[in-house]
Amino acid sequence: MTISEALSSARQSFAGTIEEPERTAASILAASVGRGREFLIAHPEYELSIEESKRFEDFVRRRLMHEPLQYILGRQEFYGLEFSVGPGVLIPRPETELLVQFAVEILKETAGPEILDLGVGSGCISVAVLKELPTAAVTAVDISPIALEYAGRNAAKHDVAGRIKFIESDLFDSVPVEHYNAILANPPYVSREEMTHLQPEVKDYEPGIALTDGSDGLSIIRRIIKFAPDYLVKGGFLIMEIGYGQAERVAELFVSDDRWTNVSFEKDLQGIQRTVIAKVK
Ligand SMILES: C[S@@+](CC[C@H](N)C(=O)[O-])C[C@H]1O[C@@H](n2cnc3c(N)ncnc32)[C@H](O)[C@@H]1O
Repeated sequence: MTISEALSSARQSFAGTIEEPERTAASILAASVGRGREFLIAHPEYELSIEESKRFEDFVRRRLMHEPLQYILGRQEFYGLEFSVGPGVLIPRPETELLVQFAVEILKETAGPEILDLGVGSGCISVAVLKELPTAAVTAVDISPIALEYAGRNAAKHDVAGRIKFIESDLFDSVPVEHYNAILANPPYVSREEMTHLQPEVKDYEPGIALTDGSDGLSIIRRIIKFAPDYLVKGGFLIMEIGYGQAERVAELFVSDDRWTNVSFEKDLQGIQRTVIAKVK
């Protein structure tokens, strides 16, 4: 099978079922032959080896089963950096880049800021913030050992491993009481009911524990808002991603707790109130 034949067969298989059939076919083929996409354009007559053909067919089969392309390729770009991802860890989303932007903006004048990342996942938030703030240090928490493994690998890949400490913990449970300048969190906020409506790529492949609290979508957020003040310096910030339609209920949680002030909600590119920023008194 040549590159040109492989591309057209994958394109046909994906058409109508898989998003962006052309681009997906090219990404999968490039990964199967271990080259960049430009190689495909330059060498349409290249004959795939038996091993490359097998890999290609396996990748196509997996994508047709709706496995996310990022798991098949083993990587996802976030904040201009490449992160290793795979089954067991959430694929970083573009809207989470907002949270990084706000954290950098808020902390850039603080010398040696100490940051707590709750639910580090692939490490995308921690690593991006550490790259932007060269004097910062992060304590990164996750309940999932697989996530912590990926985060450690990604921290090493981007040369920030010396400034990040990992703790396996159920939120604050095993985190020593220290006072951080900021707590960053992209918690599992999809409700149990909403989970049933997610596309198969998400609901059948990404880890449930990264997506949902198994309840109304707010139970982890409630715990974070309740305990975060004990872990922040006076005037420290909680910067947290929330889900579609949650802003009003999240605002009530902050308003009913007088330890918080200056609560604001920031919209993402779709106009959804996506990030909440609050200051502890
Ligand atoms: C939405 S993902 C976010 C991952 C990553 N920060 C990102 O933005 O891509 C939520 C993360 O929180 C972790 N998590 C879920 N429940 C947790 C808990 N009770 N304590 C600590 N981490 C938890 C999950 O394992 C997952 O890695």
